[in-house]
Amino acid sequence: MPGNGLILAIESSCDETAAAVVQRGSRTLSSAVASQIATHARYGGVVPELASREHLRAVVPVVRAALAQANITLNDLDAIAVTSGPGLAGALLVGITYAKALSFAQNIPLIAINHLEGHIHAVLLNERESLDGQSSTGDQPALALVVSGGHTHLYLASPAHGSWTYSLIGRTVDDAAGEAYDKVAKLLGLGYPGGPWIDALALHGNPNAVPFAFSRIKTKLHLGGKPPRTKAAKTAPIANLDPHFLFSFSGIKTAVLRYVELHNLRPEAEARHLALFTGPDAPANPTVEDALATCDQQTLDLIASFQHAVVGDLMKKTFAAQESLGATRILVTGGVSANRELRSRFTSEAARRNLRVAFPTLALSTDNAAMIAAAAWPHLQAGEFAPDSLSADPSLPLGR
Ligand code: KG4
Ligand code: ZN
Repeated sequence: MPGNGLILAIESSCDETAAAVVQRGSRTLSSAVASQIATHARYGGVVPELASREHLRAVVPVVRAALAQANITLNDLDAIAVTSGPGLAGALLVGITYAKALSFAQNIPLIAINHLEGHIHAVLLNERESLDGQSSTGDQPALALVVSGGHTHLYLASPAHGSWTYSLIGRTVDDAAGEAYDKVAKLLGLGYPGGPWIDALALHGNPNAVPFAFSRIKTKLHLGGKPPRTKAAKTAPIANLDPHFLFSFSGIKTAVLRYVELHNLRPEAEARHLALFTGPDAPANPTVEDALATCDQQTLDLIASFQHAVVGDLMKKTFAAQESLGATRILVTGGVSANRELRSRFTSEAARRNLRVAFPTLALSTDNAAMIAAAAWPHLQAGEFAPDSLSADPSLPLGR
């Protein structure tokens, strides 16, 4: 059994370079995150080549900061954990290469973690932390909705003798929910990432003004025997899943685009983008109030209606899966789980059904390395280590 259970984790799958030290999967000693938002914002999305370059710049200082904040040295560590996929190949490789070097130099094990498993453990880490490491409801199976910029996946997470197994219950067949948030925000001239802007502005609109609808997805028809097209779709097979638990967010993005064109909102969106971000009088750090001043009621209603529809669809399918599996506990995690409407509606519906629902703290909702270190703890206990040949797997699936 490892000494102090101290794991240093590195996460570099997308646009945050993160490092953290967590003890025994239940005590966060440090969690450092270097965000690349400023680098990618002007492009309205993550540029993979720029992401790799920024990770290269940030990885050493971020690891140093995590060790310093935890007040330990490399010699105190019992293992190094690293995200090995899914994510951007070049970005993942930066973290993996550095983690391998550290594990080799320190002669301690290297543990490869799936990013989605990490998001699930963000919630479990919070729970264990609040219970001071004691076992808790965290030892019961949970239906986990991982909803972020790259993923919208439903898993049944089950603990078995200290480690966890995951079975895939549902997922998106095209865009992730966060991707829809980001694309709709871009379309409306708002900033990147779009989720936090839409979250804040939706409070000022009428969620029932524009009736967006989600059609039912028929797996076989949808795929027509062809392989899935998107990155997210490659991380797990669709064909064997119940169509009731499949998500699709590309349609609503197109519906918003149609609405924008039909109501001639594009010039206003372009003016908004100039006023907030690129124009000569754009503020250095635009606030929600600045954005609000550029939105008429029709745009605010559109934003609120978009969010209401997305959250409603996430709820409908998650609770349908919960009912079908008889799960008594739900975890919602990933960047979109920071959303206020999502948290409040999932909380009320769970209470109505007498179920438990848990979310990570806001800091652990978006990408971070504490969740990777927490997920690595059961693997360290079970002696499940990465081979020397570990490489990045951009479409690494989780579970069966
Ligand atoms: O988990 P994350 O940091 O990265 C991925 O693994 O993808 O999630 C980032 C995503 C972005 O699409 C961002 O717009 C969305 O999470 N997001 C939100 C909110 N905060 C971040 N979406 C809705 N409401 C929010 N408050
Ligand atoms: Zn993520």
